Amino acid sequence: MGPQAPGEQPKLPIPGVQNIIAVGSGKGGVGKSTVAVNLAISLSKLGYAVGLMDGDVYGPNLATMLGIRATPNAIGQRIQPLQAHGVKVMSMAFLNPGDKPLVWRGPMLNSVIQQFLRNVDWGRLDYLVIDLPPGTGDVQLTLIQTTPLTGAVIVTTPSDVALEDARKAVLMFEQVREEVLGIVENMSYLDHAGERMYIFGKGGGRRTAEQMKVPFLGEIPIDPAIREGGDAGRPVSSVDKPTWQAKIFEDLARTVIERAKAAGERARPTISISD
Ligand SMILES: Nc1ncnc2c1ncn2[C@@H]1O[C@H](COP(=O)(O)OP(=O)(O)OP(=O)(O)O)[C@@H](O)[C@H]1O
Ligand SMILES: [Mg+2]
Repeated sequence: MGPQAPGEQPKLPIPGVQNIIAVGSGKGGVGKSTVAVNLAISLSKLGYAVGLMDGDVYGPNLATMLGIRATPNAIGQRIQPLQAHGVKVMSMAFLNPGDKPLVWRGPMLNSVIQQFLRNVDWGRLDYLVIDLPPGTGDVQLTLIQTTPLTGAVIVTTPSDVALEDARKAVLMFEQVREEVLGIVENMSYLDHAGERMYIFGKGGGRRTAEQMKVPFLGEIPIDPAIREGGDAGRPVSSVDKPTWQAKIFEDLARTVIERAKAAGERARPTISISD
């Protein structure tokens, strides 16, 4: 989190929540929810207490991706998150299941985001991962104006149009002085009998990260098991037996932990006393 500008409302931390990581993108459909879900589960498997908030209020996918079919209870005014694969989850899909669309204006949207952040009993969390809708709209603004983030993970695919939009997403977070933990390139290549086929072009995510002077967090291949896991509510990271797909998300989680620690140290510099 960057310094507060004069006249800005102070951002309120969420009590008990150590790190807040937003997963965003410029373009839709690049795999934010897939990355958010597998990142959250991988962090939990590494021994951390993890929450996952669905910031996509109009198109919430986390209930399906995590295989949750239940309604959260409230204790007093506090909503109790549901639990899946070791992760505490809150999504609009729990409150509005089925195909009925929500037709709301901005203020309702902002109030739901605030409720999800502050009226859900997240308890003590090492990481709260927030799956954002695509782009640089209302939800992103509400979040970054009210809540101190550890940083944002920007997901892109290697195609030029996705990269173009990823740059905008990076700039949006930088403009409001929020840390960009890095860019992760999804659907980077297809593993075909041990050979990598870079169907959308090679190295675009890394090059964009270099241009924007933000860290590159890694490549995630396009793989049927990743799609099937999401559709079936059993993300690849959640399976017990070790697979190469789970390892890829575990590596991403370890990189994000490192970057989050570095960002935390920059936000709260340790005072070294010499002599
Ligand atoms: N690495 C991958 N390999 C195979 N399929 C993938 C991969 N990443 C994502 N997908 C699939 O691509 C589709 C879109 O992914 P996802 O819903 O995660 O994207 P999104 O960026 O969250 O989309 P939206 O912008 O609509 O929120 C899903 O069907 C998902 O299972
Ligand atoms: Mg999504």
